[in-house]
Amino acid sequence: EIEQKVEQLLAKMTLEEKVGQMNQYNGFWDVTGPSPKEGNAAIKYEHLRKGWVGSMLTVRGVDQVRAVQKIAVEETRLGIPLIIGFDVIHGYKTLSPIPLAEAASWDMEAIKKSAQVAADEASASGINWTFGPNVDISRDARWGRVMEGAGEDPFLGSRVATARVKGFQGDDLSAPNTIAACAKHFAAYGFAESGRDYNTVDIGNATLYNTVLPPFKAAKDAGVRTFMNSFNILNGVPATGSSFLQRDILKGKWGFDGFIITDWASIREMIAHGYAKDGAEATVKAVKAGADMDMESHLYVAQLVKLVNEGKVDIKLVDDAVRRILRVKYELGLFDDPYRYCNEKREKEVINSKANHEAVLDMAKKSIVLLKNEKNLLPLKKNGQKIALIGALANDKNSPLGSWRIASDDNTAVSVLEGMQQYKGNTLTFEKGADLTVGKTTFLDEVVFNTTDRNGFEAAKKAAASADVVVMVLGEHGFQSGEGRSRTNLDLPGLQQELLEEIYKVNPNVVLVLNNGRPLALTWAAEHIPTIVEAWHLGTQTGNAVAQVLYGDYNPSGKLPMSFPRNVGQVPIYYNQHSTGRPTNSDNNVFWSHYTDVEKTPQFAFGHGLSYTTFKYSAPKLDKSSYTKGEAVKVSVDITNTGNYDGKEVAQLYIRDIAASLSRPVKELKGFELISLKKGETKTVTFTLTDKELGFFNNEGEYLVEPGTFKVFVGTSSDNVQETEFELK
Ligand code: IFM
Repeated sequence: EIEQKVEQLLAKMTLEEKVGQMNQYNGFWDVTGPSPKEGNAAIKYEHLRKGWVGSMLTVRGVDQVRAVQKIAVEETRLGIPLIIGFDVIHGYKTLSPIPLAEAASWDMEAIKKSAQVAADEASASGINWTFGPNVDISRDARWGRVMEGAGEDPFLGSRVATARVKGFQGDDLSAPNTIAACAKHFAAYGFAESGRDYNTVDIGNATLYNTVLPPFKAAKDAGVRTFMNSFNILNGVPATGSSFLQRDILKGKWGFDGFIITDWASIREMIAHGYAKDGAEATVKAVKAGADMDMESHLYVAQLVKLVNEGKVDIKLVDDAVRRILRVKYELGLFDDPYRYCNEKREKEVINSKANHEAVLDMAKKSIVLLKNEKNLLPLKKNGQKIALIGALANDKNSPLGSWRIASDDNTAVSVLEGMQQYKGNTLTFEKGADLTVGKTTFLDEVVFNTTDRNGFEAAKKAAASADVVVMVLGEHGFQSGEGRSRTNLDLPGLQQELLEEIYKVNPNVVLVLNNGRPLALTWAAEHIPTIVEAWHLGTQTGNAVAQVLYGDYNPSGKLPMSFPRNVGQVPIYYNQHSTGRPTNSDNNVFWSHYTDVEKTPQFAFGHGLSYTTFKYSAPKLDKSSYTKGEAVKVSVDITNTGNYDGKEVAQLYIRDIAASLSRPVKELKGFELISLKKGETKTVTFTLTDKELGFFNNEGEYLVEPGTFKVFVGTSSDNVQETEFELK
């Protein structure tokens, strides 16, 4: 039925109106006020009235959305409603942890729920389309946008992509509390050379097909309705101008029938890339390559009508793009009721609701990773202790909200200090030690760190010296990661490392709580500090989540979704690497694959994360020793909670295809299971491996399952496993 409606509408549209649907504008003026008389905004306003705008982004709030929608619906000839897009990255007003942190939960139900909460609030505010999830795999912690993804692994990344798409879109796209999702950035944006944002990507097909594309395919299979292309060039061709990616793979091989939005001005950026000599050529290349909607290049609206009339762009390509866009608008129910997402009552009730705060608190606790707990300093005792809480981040209500949160209100996070103050049985003293930053800390500004003012050091040392336990909250400011926030150092910025060492001298009982948007290199801390908790940027409920974990009211179960290097020189570092020809020091000389100054292993491996309890794994058992292709391989393991607390564990299964027509990684995650175990309890976990897990893509993008020996590893992290093997015939 939708298809018929799309065709009927398409038949009525002029070329100008069709091109209008392919144009998206950012709404930066107050759309409820008088229409602007001059400048860019006046032009946009005029285009909107003419029906030359199909979508707007960043307009938000029922008032604002209703105002622009009214113009589209009532003042244009055909009254085609706008689709309203927004970056709902980890929540709308009530913020969940940053996406990388959520991935550390390995809890797909919780991640789905978190996306549902985000959709619930965004849709209550007039929005019907998010530019998420970001499904970019990245192995380079220097890249600031690792905070937006699910880490380094395509298997975990695919599961997370599925959960997020389902959370945003629900079962019924036309329901007023679901929104269309967007898998981005298609493709390979996470492989920017040297981790510098927007930089060149030059990867081989093995990495493209086996590492980059699987989460996009998972999103497509989960029904994602839009894709966003990316800023980068891939092997010489800007992704925005790539027919190979957009037409051959996405719309061709995968049969995607939603639409592709460009990234911000990425059509125009093809000129800077040296791939188009001017706007007209960039437009031709983008349309031909399959980019359906132009975000803020202003080129489709300026060029496309003329290019079609001159015969330089086939009208069929325009029709195809418009069909896709209209299809999604119909699916969202916008034609039935363009104001479906504009309900003031719902907006008031849903945003910041108690239930949403509870959901993001739950997600935040599940995202925390206990990296080290050597002296069992954690959980903290609840009574009679003197606790010194140190670090400017502990008293910060803004930084924990993290990056990419444009709808949220500043300073709305529960700080760690506020969270800790809920526990009244101990004496708590707070000292910042030193200011973290100087100047503005906003989404648009570079964060500048304090590197000179040590005025608070003495007071912090005094508090630490007389404490039983020192809790130090250190790391990155929330706006130090995210888009445009690449770093060449992965250390604790500003004076924080110095402060940590000074405090450690006066009291070694330090619990280090990290706030960061990417893996950090923490060699000194890993060697000296007995207890380290990875608490990322956990969103609105940060302080409550951290305090509940520190006090043992929640037993942490998170596992790292990205390897933490020993130093930045190891980056990119990832567990699913290929073996070199010289993986070990078998000849007892220097000519093997290693570094002369540091071990080649990461500081904290992918999949690592402790609990307050301990788990014992039996050796993995197979139901047979050899299998024929197509047959299911069953691997089971007994896991016992051997410690003193009830807890949760993420059991992980990895494989290695020992010899294949293309070299396969030394380990590949192919299964995981999050289980709860009471003290003393044992559970058997059974994993099933099928052709879907055992094969790989060759350099032509064909999926192969090859006979031979496979190793199977099961354990608690990528570097702590027991193994067995089987033959595939
Ligand atoms: O969605 C984003 C994208 O990830 C980066 N460029 C801008 C877009 C819209 O805000």
